[in-house]
Amino acid sequence: MRLSKIKLFDYFYKAYHAWPLIYSNLIQLLSFGQWEQWQQRVFDDISGHKILEIGVGPGKLLLKLVQKGYDITGIELRRGMAFEARRRLKRAGYLSQILQQNIEKLPFDNEIFDCIVLTFVLAEITHLEKAILEMKRVLKTNGKVIIIAGGIPQDNNLIARILFRLVSPHTTLHLQRNNMQYFHSAGFEVKRTDFGPFNIVNKIVAVK
Ligand SMILES: C[S@@+](CC[C@H](N)C(=O)[O-])C[C@H]1O[C@@H](n2cnc3c(N)ncnc32)[C@H](O)[C@@H]1O
Repeated sequence: MRLSKIKLFDYFYKAYHAWPLIYSNLIQLLSFGQWEQWQQRVFDDISGHKILEIGVGPGKLLLKLVQKGYDITGIELRRGMAFEARRRLKRAGYLSQILQQNIEKLPFDNEIFDCIVLTFVLAEITHLEKAILEMKRVLKTNGKVIIIAGGIPQDNNLIARILFRLVSPHTTLHLQRNNMQYFHSAGFEVKRTDFGPFNIVNKIVAVK
């Protein structure tokens, strides 16, 4: 394999995702302790009671959602992450439905959720059109998809552009995709706000 084909950032990313506890601690460190605050920005927009969280990871946000009294279902692709999320909830004394499942095929009836929440998941999704159609199908009318993601900021600032130039050749993550445009095309009403260092974290709220 040619050296230029090796995606170094992907190797690092996959390695720490394989260990949910290492992931939890490392991600807090890499975000200078901001990760959980960024996740919790979803609470400003949640409406209704029945919530689906996709890509729950080790389940930190999921636990907070449960503690706030929402009726919550979790979906997670990686077995180790789903296991850790279930364990976290059980240790805190809660029972919740966490399914090991791909966003591209959601095992639910049409129009049953008030909100769908995804934090730092979108860049991993290859077939975003397919994922959006599935989310739209299971959302009630006027339901919301609330996303926290990393990506190119709207103000396109120089530091962010340099950072993305450095990382992009070394990853298959979709960091420069215009996620908002995909939701627009699927008929959602979409709003976006940028925050975090150099505005590289964003919140997208897409209403069906
Ligand atoms: C960067 S982690 C974020 C985890 C957690 N939401 C957080 O904020 O810490 C991305 C998570 O999304 C999950 N994921 C990636 N692609 C997915 C898919 N197609 N369907 C469901 N989950 C997926 C990964 O397994 C991983 O746990």
